Amino acid sequence: MVGLKTLFARQLPKMPRDYIVRLVFDRRHTSLAILDDRVDLEDPDYRGGDEDIIGGICYRAYPDMKFAEIAFCAVSANHQVKGYGTKLMNLVKAHAAKERIEYFITYADNYAIGYFKKQGFSKSISMPKMRYQGLIKDYDGGTPMECYIHPSVDYKRTNEMIAAQRKFLLDQVRKKSRSHVSYPPLVAFKPDLAGVSRSNEGAARAMAIPGVAQAGWTMADLLLATGPQKDAERQKNQIKSDMLTILRKIDEQQFAWPFREPVDTTDVKDYLNVRILIYHLICNAIFWA
Ligand code: COA
Repeated sequence: MVGLKTLFARQLPKMPRDYIVRLVFDRRHTSLAILDDRVDLEDPDYRGGDEDIIGGICYRAYPDMKFAEIAFCAVSANHQVKGYGTKLMNLVKAHAAKERIEYFITYADNYAIGYFKKQGFSKSISMPKMRYQGLIKDYDGGTPMECYIHPSVDYKRTNEMIAAQRKFLLDQVRKKSRSHVSYPPLVAFKPDLAGVSRSNEGAARAMAIPGVAQAGWTMADLLLATGPQKDAERQKNQIKSDMLTILRKIDEQQFAWPFREPVDTTDVKDYLNVRILIYHLICNAIFWA
């Protein structure tokens, strides 16, 4: 515990030392530490020290309200960004889930927000305020963050679970996709273009490459990309994208809300007669934007 307190003080220099000591040694707080493998706690000569501690977390649980507040979380400088922070958090979550804790709350400083986000914490607090109001206090410069502890997730096995889900997804993709099939390199590629018009030559050449047809491309697709239609198609896409930009700009206007949903002409019977005026207003709005 003394080693853990020293680690927190070293890694969280802005925290007053007496505050760290008070919380770590407070019986209502729980601390969890990852120790170096070489430490033998049964050894009578072992004296302990923060150099044997890889990282630790100190939290206070509020069992009645089913949440806990993380007070300190730190990994020693020479072990950071090696995955220990994630391991530590997963162990704490697994332990908390056994104690029926539903939420973790913490005040993260700007430096730690990224780390907490990766551990499933979010800045939006979904836990009802009445559960934590009066129990935890605001810290200056800290952002409150929350993590829901799902009772059916085994946090000690998250890596295995993610690997299994990834494998399942890739297996499903592989059943449909042929992207893993590779073809031998093309040697002296001379496709037979007899009877192919000059304008279609590019597409026919691409189509003759082994694997292109098998990947689902058709002559029509390739003609769109390479043939004379490509300019017309590009123009069409350009117009579409310009129109969408205009629509988005209209939608972003402060007073655009009445136009976001179509007007029900059964409710507003003369709407179609006045809509010319509405278009005029919209055009003005775009002009002034
Ligand atoms: N900002 C953004 N991302 C961070 C980060 C930070 N400060 N620290 C770690 N990460 C990312 C890592 O890149 C990693 O991402 P990946 O999974 O995509 O690779 C992920 O978070 C987990 O990193 P991990 O190696 O498990 O974390 P760690 O062992 O370095 O421990 C801290 C993270 C924050 C506990 C450690 O940096 C630390 O002790 N900092 C000083 C004390 C502190 O600020 N504590 C938090 C407030 S109490």
